[in-house]
This record gives sequence, structure tokens and C-alpha cells, in this order.
Amino acid sequence: MLLQAHSQNANRTDLSHQRCINPACGATYETHSIRTSCDRCGELLDIAYDWDHLPVPEKLSDFEAMWSQRTNPIRFSGVWRFHELLPFAPQDKVVTVGEGQTLLQQADAVGEFVGMDAGKLHLQYEGMNPSGSFKDNGMCAAFTHARMMEAKRAACASTGNTSASLAMYCSTTRLMKAIIFIGSGKISYGKLSQALDYGALTVQIAGDFDDAMLRVQQVSKQLGIYLVNSVNPFRLEGQKTVMYRVLEALRWEVPDWIVVPGGNLGNSSAFGKAFMELKQLGLVDRIPRLAVVNASGADTAYELYERRGVRWNGGHIDFDPIRQHNDRMDREHLKADTIASAIEINRPVNLKKCLRALDVMDGVVRQVTDQEILDAKAKVGAGGFGCEPASAASVAGAKLLRREGVIAPSDRVVCILTGHELKDPTATVAYHTTDQDLFNRVLASRGVSKASYANRAIAVPNELDDIIKAIQLYS
Ligand code: F0G
Repeated sequence: MLLQAHSQNANRTDLSHQRCINPACGATYETHSIRTSCDRCGELLDIAYDWDHLPVPEKLSDFEAMWSQRTNPIRFSGVWRFHELLPFAPQDKVVTVGEGQTLLQQADAVGEFVGMDAGKLHLQYEGMNPSGSFKDNGMCAAFTHARMMEAKRAACASTGNTSASLAMYCSTTRLMKAIIFIGSGKISYGKLSQALDYGALTVQIAGDFDDAMLRVQQVSKQLGIYLVNSVNPFRLEGQKTVMYRVLEALRWEVPDWIVVPGGNLGNSSAFGKAFMELKQLGLVDRIPRLAVVNASGADTAYELYERRGVRWNGGHIDFDPIRQHNDRMDREHLKADTIASAIEINRPVNLKKCLRALDVMDGVVRQVTDQEILDAKAKVGAGGFGCEPASAASVAGAKLLRREGVIAPSDRVVCILTGHELKDPTATVAYHTTDQDLFNRVLASRGVSKASYANRAIAVPNELDDIIKAIQLYS
């Protein structure tokens, strides 16, 4: 049963506020205000709740009662059926398009590839969201806040999925107009086609994601446009629910590992906050470990956390190695480069929140090559529902951690598959192709030398006998 004692408070916005993540500052701001950083010290913001006066469930399985209320759009949503764990908005402001109907699959074939015992590897398919990626979890939360603020225009910089999600929420709800910033040539066609089709104003910057991210922040500030990138703390509230659904699918048992690709580091940050709060509320008795997986061509989190030893350290982060790393990237004109275009990011905006998540979840960071990513992706396709390249970084990362002995074969591991298979067909076709030019152009140029798990199409003349012979030979 949900606690009823304080239910009259469920719609009160003064029971949540925005709070600076820097403990030395701790400035707070009304929920009912728009900001993406602390006015006082410039750090990121969190949403904090007055849990003592909010109706919080006694145990996680109480949320199962919501399944029987699926005719209510809020309880149909895989995000808002956990409203009590992100209670910043009154119910009548909640925006939903039915996001979060995602699946956790026990994937033994992929588990074997990773080196796990049978029954131990699970894939969480966030590509099953309406716009085809996990972003919808966060976008409905950002839209809810934007609706509370009566915003009319929303903007984001994107490697493709945030923009697809923003554009879709704008086209379906008609609450705001979408303005998206993308780096030129840095977005897969699947994602670009969504933004265009949904009618977003699409601004192609002569630069990469990191350039677009900087510009969109400047432009949003100057023109008073609502920013929906993951510096928006409300977005990350929605992304916490990925963890709630994982727990739900595991019948509320906490797994040993959550493995997630790292780009702008919003997901990892949100997952850390989710478990911090669940622990604080006494809803879980332990916290899983976190593995954040970078592509080796965009490895800032790995470089800072594993090589340079940067830690959350109770909020007292040593900024010198971060500054040195950024200066080096500037000096040497280092740009992110990976086939996993979704995580082709060198300056992750949520770095500090991610450091906190790694602290809370006893985390590790790893980097994997494009070769490893594409091999893992082929295995996810052959043993599951498929995913886009960035998502497969989680499986490649789990395999690496198994090889290192950090993950044991008997551990229960959940890899988050962040985006749908069809987001980036070019990468998939180039891997499986017999067309050497295509392979060279798309993959060999990124150091991918072989396609060990390719499933190649067979070419046959348009003759019945030849077709039958070929099928008998290959099947
Ligand atoms: N996987 C996919 C499919 C993504 O689209 C992204 C980020 C990530 C992983 C990384 O997640 O930023 O939370 O660490 N895509 C953003 C975008 C940057 O613009 O669509 P993160």
C-alpha cells in the first residue's frame, strides 16, 4: 500500500526544490524556476525532495498496484507510474506520450559472448521508447517542467537521439517548438530523419557536438529558450526510472552490476541519484556497482577517472586534472571520433554528477574500441533485438570487465541498451556488407579491420535453379 498519510501534499511544488550539487555551496532554488546551473557557484543542479512530507511507498513492490491503473495515462507511462519517486510536478502538469514501455531480456547467447554463466546477463532495451531511445524517459520530465513554466520554445544540442526525442514531444504534444543544434556530418540518418520528419527547426553547426553544446547554452540564455539537454536537472529525474524498471523486471532484486555507455554522462548520473535516493528511503538494502563505458575515441570519463584518478571526494573534486585534460584537448585540437556517434563527446556536461554516481555505486569506467563495439553489436543483433552502436559499448564493456575478472561469471549484470537498432543502419550494413568500399569508408577509416560476426547477403543470378542451389548450400 502507498502511504496515504501525506497524500494531500502530493501536488505541492514547495516539497521539492533545485539544489546545487556542490556541498560547499548548497544553494537552493524554487522548482518553479528555469536554470541549468547554480547562480552562486556555477555548478550543476539536482532536484531535492522533502521526502518526510511526501507520500512514499513502503516498499518497491507497492508500485505493482499501478499496473492495474493503466487506463490512466500517468500510470500507463513507464516513467510516471513511479511519480512518487520524482514528485516535482502536480499530476495535471505531467506530460506523457506513453514512454517507458521497455523490456529487460535475459540474453544467454549474448551472455556467453560476454563470458557469463547462463541466466546472468540481462539487456535493458531502452530503444523501445516511442522515439527509439532512452531519451524519452528524461524528455517527458523536462517537458513537464517546461509546461509548469509555460515555455514556448525548447532547444537542445544533440548527437541525434535527444533531438529526435525533443522533436517528437513537440510534434505530439504541440506544447513547444523544437530548435535543435547538431554538428555537421555527426548524426546518423535514422536520427536526422526523425528531427526533420517531426518538423524541428534544425540548425547544423559547422563543428561537432561539443561545439553545438556550447552554442545552444549561449543561445538559450540569450533568447530565453527552454534547454532540454541533460544539464536540465528535471530530465535526469525521468531517467532515474530506467533503474526502477530494471528492478521491477528483476522482481525488485538488486543486480550486481549496471553497465551503461557514457557520453554526456546523464544516464550514469541519473542512475546514481536513483540508488542514492532508494537507499535513503530504505527501499533497497544494497546498491549495484556501476560500469560506465566510453568509446576509446571519446574517452574523457575514462581518462579522468581511471588514468588521472579524479574522484567525487565528498564533492571536493580536484579540478586541476580536469583543466589540464581540457587544455590538452584544446592545444592539440583533439576531437571525439567514434563509430558510436551517439557518444562522440569529449566534454561531458554531467562529469561531476557522474563522479558522484561512481562514488555511490562503487563504479568503474572503461573504454572499448570501435571494433569491440561493432562485434558486440553484431552479437546483440544475433542474440536479441539489436541496438545502435553506442548502446553496444555496454556489452563490449561487460565483456572487457569479465576478461579482467572485475565482473564474475556468476554476477547478475544488466547492460543498458540505450538506442534502437534502426537508428544507425549505415553502421550495421557496413559491418555485414560484402561491399569493400562501404566497409572501408565507414569502418576501416575508424580502425575496424574485420567483421568476425558478419552475416553476409549472398548474391545470386535471377535464375530459379541458382537460387535453390544457393539456399541448399547455405542453409
Ligand atoms: N547511448 C545513446 C544511444 C545516446 O544517444 C547517448 C547520448 C548515450 C548513449 C550517452 O548517454 O549522455 O547519458 O552518457 N546521446 C545524446 C544525444 C548526447 O544528443 O542524443 P549519456
